[in-house]
Amino acid sequence: MKRRKIAAGNWKMNKTFSEGRALASAIAEGMEPSENLVILGVPAIHLKAVANTAKKVKGLEVAAQNCHQAESGAYTGEISVDMIKSVGAKYVIIGHSERREYFNESHELLAQKVDATLSKRLIPIFCCGEPLSIREEGTHVAHVKKQLEESLFHLKTKPFEKIVIAYEPIWAIGTGVTASPAQAQDMHKAIRQLIADRYSERVADETSILYGGSVKPANAKELFSQPDVDGGLVGGASLKADDFLKIIGSF
Ligand code: PGA
Repeated sequence: MKRRKIAAGNWKMNKTFSEGRALASAIAEGMEPSENLVILGVPAIHLKAVANTAKKVKGLEVAAQNCHQAESGAYTGEISVDMIKSVGAKYVIIGHSERREYFNESHELLAQKVDATLSKRLIPIFCCGEPLSIREEGTHVAHVKKQLEESLFHLKTKPFEKIVIAYEPIWAIGTGVTASPAQAQDMHKAIRQLIADRYSERVADETSILYGGSVKPANAKELFSQPDVDGGLVGGASLKADDFLKIIGSF
């Protein structure tokens, strides 16, 4: 996907059906026309209703928060990429740190989910990022490099060009502690360099890289103004329409 400014929400496991409808409508109604992209990452039960709302608004799209790597079959409780696609969602969040940690999703499994998503022409929003111990050790770039190498860099250039990357330092997720704009910029620049080394400068230049971890209205503008930060993946602050609309308006 060509590089764009993106504000993506990640609702995680929040909002009943009616609450989700109300939130999506409030966001849709509050959005100003723009060239930027807004993506709502919603639990599976919301996908269809939110996709219907999004259909009416230019620049509003929907993401699933996970998918299964198989096409279909006996996997009780899981959803396939075809199912996600069938309700009009175009994106799938893959490799969120909560899925890596609580559901033991390995590099190898995430590579399979990336492949499954791309095979149906949906777009993975691939999450990477280091825990606090790794940040303190100073090996965070190597940590993220391994995540990219093991789950994304098997892709040929064309499929890789579809990917959106979200850098989310785990120590900043849901903690209220945000990476400083300089810390975000440094890592985003490093990620772009890794992509340039594996693919090319052009591919690196055209990849959208989002920052996630305690993005809020008060810090979005400064984060998003960093040259290598193309937007955000927003958890807590995407659950309130007013806050998320302010973040959308921060570009
Ligand atoms: P947060 O979550 O904005 O609540 O820190 C971000 C995320 O986990 O995607």
